[in-house]
Amino acid sequence: MRKSSIVGTGSYIPKRVLTNADLEKMVDTSDEWITTRTGIKERRIVDKDEAASDLAYKASIKAMEAANIKPEELDMIIVATITPDMIFPATACVLQEKLGVRKIAAFDLEVACSGFLYGISIASQFIATGMYDTILIVAAEVLSKIVDWQDRNTCVLFADGAGAVVLKPFEDGNQIISSCLGADGEGADLVGVPAGGSRLPASLETVRSRQHYMKMNGNGLFKEAVKAMVQAADISLQKGGLTYKDIDFFIPHQANIRIIKAVAKRMGLSMDKVCINLDRYGNMSAASVAVALDEAVREKRIKRGDKILLTCFGGGLSWASLVIEW
Ligand code: UT7
Repeated sequence: MRKSSIVGTGSYIPKRVLTNADLEKMVDTSDEWITTRTGIKERRIVDKDEAASDLAYKASIKAMEAANIKPEELDMIIVATITPDMIFPATACVLQEKLGVRKIAAFDLEVACSGFLYGISIASQFIATGMYDTILIVAAEVLSKIVDWQDRNTCVLFADGAGAVVLKPFEDGNQIISSCLGADGEGADLVGVPAGGSRLPASLETVRSRQHYMKMNGNGLFKEAVKAMVQAADISLQKGGLTYKDIDFFIPHQANIRIIKAVAKRMGLSMDKVCINLDRYGNMSAASVAVALDEAVREKRIKRGDKILLTCFGGGLSWASLVIEW
């Protein structure tokens, strides 16, 4: 079975900055509350006419440039998103058209915050079997368009951005060592968008009652997040024959600084090994870890031979963890 290698990373962050001070003018909140309860100071928000595929395109171009490959070399495109351009067709197909590469496999993956790591793990199976050689995995989120800007429980947390990687069979350089994927539908009601699907189709009433916006039970998620992230990381490390002592760099999902600190503490990892971008970007769901990975690579925070742990948790409930030797 062939191992997989990340041969290029890229990301795109919208220009418009929304600070905690801006939010103070929109809902009953304060910079003090947001900073101490979440760690977020500012986040990026798309323009009115920007959609997930626009962000995905920009991140993908950068990842392909870094990988030194042309779109026509791609065998498959996976887009992880909970904010697709539309319910269907898949944003991956829209992206395929934008990239000018036709007829290759393209599909969306809807696993909320865990989508990027699910995507890499799925793609690596196609590489392992020899079915495909060059796969683009993109996480693109425009959460500002499903957040209720009147709901202070959610609107201070979520934001927009995209990150991408190109995966190829391992030859030289980094290699994906192991992964763990999981889900628990018992927690499905903790976070989601109630209306607009087949259970509660769009109607005047669903719009009036604001059911097309994200609803979240933050406390319920908080408890599950710490437990699930540590368990997923434990399993991925065991599978790779490693322990937390071997880990040089940890990229956790960026939901809340308190979750990240609790997770790192249980893992026995010092905070200087932990990648944080939520202070600047908020929670970008699947894109959080993707953007963090790209920035860490470009800033050379990750060095050849480093053992990297990436761990996510989110709606579904879902979780995923990946170990990479860089
Ligand atoms: O991406 C994966 C999915 N999401 C998550 O994993 C999120 C996980 N959960 C969290 O990060 C935290 O639970 C939150 C940041 C969402 C909330 O923090 P908390 O410390 O759990 O606060 P809380 O929900 O217990 O609320 C405490 C108080 C409440 O007031 P009362 O009822 O005690 O008077 C809230 O109404 O804080 C209030 N509150 C706010 N106050 C000012 C909630 N949001 C705000 C706000 N500004 N934006």
